[in-house]
Amino acid sequence: FGQTIYFEEEVTSTQKMAHQLAHEGAKEGTIVVAELQTAGRGRMDRKWFSPKGTGIWMSLILRPPIPPQKTPQLTLLTAVAIVQAIQEVAGLVPDIKWPNDILINGKKCVGILTELQADPDRVHSVTIGMGVNVNHERDQFPEDLRGIATSLAIEKGEKIKRARLIQEVLLKMETLYRQYLQHGFLPIKLLWEGYAISIGKEITARTLNGTIRGFARGITDEGVLILEDHDGTIHYIHSADISL
Ligand code: BTN
Repeated sequence: FGQTIYFEEEVTSTQKMAHQLAHEGAKEGTIVVAELQTAGRGRMDRKWFSPKGTGIWMSLILRPPIPPQKTPQLTLLTAVAIVQAIQEVAGLVPDIKWPNDILINGKKCVGILTELQADPDRVHSVTIGMGVNVNHERDQFPEDLRGIATSLAIEKGEKIKRARLIQEVLLKMETLYRQYLQHGFLPIKLLWEGYAISIGKEITARTLNGTIRGFARGITDEGVLILEDHDGTIHYIHSADISL
């Protein structure tokens, strides 16, 4: 990955730019990285705080030969790659909260956003956006984020080299993606479950259709969360915010 890299000083959103490039036929492995995003986007129409020079704001284009319903697997794969890279470069041990938040000491330091262009039976491109809070200091976060967000530098107590982390994320992504194409999702799923904090615990899932409380029993082979409520009914959760 990264044969073609667009390195931008300032963009509205690397995700928006990569999505456009994918539409224009950009190759698998194309990457957009920016120093600053003026309109960084998060899941569920939220904003992503993307100040200049302290984070990794990056989007990667993939063209996997899979049907659209399997794309959540790639989000989980990305979370595993980023966790492994953080462990290697920063020596920190992050947790994954389904589907794709990466937390250290209960606070979020990474967000992943996956968007696709697809027909009903075939994916044309998947754009995976990654936001990593690397060297933010605590008082750089807006007040409403201070209680829930953190950076690697805050947790580690020293600054981390962003270029080294980007390199390691791409290496891990490439290794896992190759493994995924060869052997399927199962090996990735096992790794993911090893890092996940919510599985086996009682959680609340807020979906667009309402709130469900129950036990997270695991994920399906497609990366969908399996939730058992107090009546024993099994719910399959495709998209939600969960809290422990
Ligand atoms: C989330 O809501 O947790 C996902 C956040 C994803 C943020 C990244 S930063 C790079 C890429 N460009 C964007 O506008 N968003 C993603």
